[in-house]
Amino acid sequence: MRIAVPRETRPGERRVALTPESCKKLAQAGYAISIESGAGESAFYPDAAYREVGVMVETDPAAMLGAADLVLRVNPPAPGAADRNEIQWMRPGTILLGSLMPLRHLETVRALAARRITAFSTDAIPRTTRAQAMDTLSSMANITGYKGALLAAAELSKYFPMFMTAAGTVFPARIFIIGAAVAGLQAIATARRLGANVFATDVRPEVKEQIESLGAKYVGVELKEGASAGGGYARELSEEDKARQGKVLAEQCAAADVVITTALIGGTFAPKLITADMVRRMRPGSVIVDLAADGGGNCELSRPGETVVVDRVRIMAPLNLPATMPTHASLLFSRNLASFVLAFTRDKSFHLDLSDDIQKGSIITHEGEILHARTREAVQTAGAGGWRS
Ligand code: NAI
Repeated sequence: MRIAVPRETRPGERRVALTPESCKKLAQAGYAISIESGAGESAFYPDAAYREVGVMVETDPAAMLGAADLVLRVNPPAPGAADRNEIQWMRPGTILLGSLMPLRHLETVRALAARRITAFSTDAIPRTTRAQAMDTLSSMANITGYKGALLAAAELSKYFPMFMTAAGTVFPARIFIIGAAVAGLQAIATARRLGANVFATDVRPEVKEQIESLGAKYVGVELKEGASAGGGYARELSEEDKARQGKVLAEQCAAADVVITTALIGGTFAPKLITADMVRRMRPGSVIVDLAADGGGNCELSRPGETVVVDRVRIMAPLNLPATMPTHASLLFSRNLASFVLAFTRDKSFHLDLSDDIQKGSIITHEGEILHARTREAVQTAGAGGWRS
């Protein structure tokens, strides 16, 4: 079976889906591997490193994809790009694996179904112990949380840690983190390592212990209706609960030097939690890092992909932070994809088994149908759908 890895085309993307280390493992399992020339270059994996482990480096991506049985990507291919229509280059029946974020890329999903591609999205893998090694959401969210805390530390006009110096003592910065799943917990851990005084909240009260185990203080909000949507995900709050939470968030933001937000609904869309009024009440010089910018942002004033300053508060809304650490991001992403492929390899081939919970959960399109229920509903509701890079 032939695996092909095209270069990533999303603007600003620097990751590659397979690094030489994983290519070696997959080759040992019996796969023939091709990569588009230069695909690993911006993550510092040159063509020569792939050749060394027996990978074919190809200069014609259309021919490469046309000959592939399994295509591995970081981002979904753009639908209908005139000069580079990867979906049309793949043969019907080809398996595509990557972080497809199907709910954010409905037009791509339609095109994949129309081309009869069997597409798996690692974002939809069930969050089970068995699937952990394949979980790109977790490995990438870890990077996002880490880098988000470092960006905040670099932008703040103060130290993060307490310092006792000959010139006297400075007190630690106060950091408030909203959303304490993978990205939020890593932001807490990183800010703590830098010596900051960290407070964190989440609508799922079960994370209190995890927040405290990292040396941060848990800020609880009494909600009338629970916010758990099952599987560790949160659902949107009722208007009454939003108001209750809003009060607590406003107080915490006003007391903080840095606010880092990571809240997502269903792992996809960002609820607006920090209002313009809350920003106005923050201290001059304070910093917001909106790590939910890829999902639209948690702050009303965030402009995804930009930094704005409002009333002397700096609001950063970086997109795709894993791409800013492409060497390790690619290494981990690639290990996740290789784990997925190897888990289903029988006799040197990828074995399709839709009764398996991991495949069943993560399959998006197959034989012309959209099998992933939430995506199918979204495509039906959206009509024409929408492409967002
Ligand atoms: P996510 O990115 O979907 O959500 C981030 C956080 O935002 C969640 O903790 C959520 O409760 C919180 N949130 C949503 N609305 C909020 C609001 N209004 N105010 C404050 N916080 C709000 O989360 P991620 O990182 O994808 O993890 C999802 C779940 O999967 C978690 O429960 C996590 O522990 C679990 N998980 C399990 C794994 C495993 O067992 N293999 C691996 C990784 C994660």
